[in-house]
Amino acid sequence: MSIFNQKCAFFVTGASRGYGRAIALALAKELAEGELLGEGSLLVGTSRCQERLDSLKEELAFVCPKLVVRLRCVEISDVASMAEVFCDLVKVEHAYDVAAIVHNAGSAGDLTVSCLQQTDAGAVQKALDLNINSLLQLNGAFLRQFESTPTTLFVVNITSLLAVEAFPGLHIYCLAKAARDMYIKVLAKEQPSVRCLNWAPGPMPTDLFDEIKTQSFRSDIRDSFAKMADEKSFVTCAASSSKLMGLLRDNKFESGSHIDIYDL
Ligand SMILES: NC(=O)c1ccc[n+]([C@@H]2O[C@H](COP(=O)([O-])OP(=O)(O)OC[C@H]3O[C@@H](n4cnc5c(N)ncnc54)[C@H](OP(=O)(O)O)[C@@H]3O)[C@@H](O)[C@H]2O)c1
Repeated sequence: MSIFNQKCAFFVTGASRGYGRAIALALAKELAEGELLGEGSLLVGTSRCQERLDSLKEELAFVCPKLVVRLRCVEISDVASMAEVFCDLVKVEHAYDVAAIVHNAGSAGDLTVSCLQQTDAGAVQKALDLNINSLLQLNGAFLRQFESTPTTLFVVNITSLLAVEAFPGLHIYCLAKAARDMYIKVLAKEQPSVRCLNWAPGPMPTDLFDEIKTQSFRSDIRDSFAKMADEKSFVTCAASSSKLMGLLRDNKFESGSHIDIYDL
């Protein structure tokens, strides 16, 4: 049975804008079209911006009026306080058939320095906390919440081609994505009952995309992103999130695998 015909608890980090927002709306749409019309399901989303979360809440209520929505401002790179807030957020008062966490929030790190020029240990630590450590802490909190329940669990890491292919000018991004992918692979082996997925959504026109296009110290990278934008040779967030919904609905992927949108 499709997960969207069951009572679901979904957790999405970075739900305020870009791809995370598209994922939150796509999940709500799937639930609204499911047998329960979203009744009894929960969506939890985080970001640092209350205003953007408020506007998301309005949109979600329109897409799936029966869905319970909990949105919270969290600074994910502050791992200690974030874990506390998140433990509170993932406290589940009801039983769910399915629970899924989508680790979407992320950053590119400082795009203005090369490997050779990297001297700012504090900035590197902050980027690794946001992109790697927070995922580990949130994911542990999520899994422990549902330990010893019969709930079917999904863990989705929003990854990138850059987890498996080195890109000049993006050393922090590449290493963070590679580390996250490997964590998911290890998790799939440790927890065979948890459905684990590394999903590479393709290039999408978001703030992150624009940051790389304008701030990379490499002119070839700036040019290739500008070309993609001019030619619109990217994937829209809505189209990519719809592909992800298809993967979750079919639920046939190998747990721990890295699936790129261009593989489908
Ligand atoms: N765009 C692409 O071409 C592309 C391609 C492959 C993979 N991806 C991946 O897709 C995911 C989403 O990227 P995007 O393109 O949608 O980027 P985006 O538009 O920059 O959005 C990033 C999201 O992460 C949240 N976030 C960033 N820093 C945060 C922090 N310190 N604490 C809490 N939340 C934080 C942001 O929320 P607030 O700013 O509201 O707090 C926002 O919701 C990322 O993992 C990215 O690597 C993107």
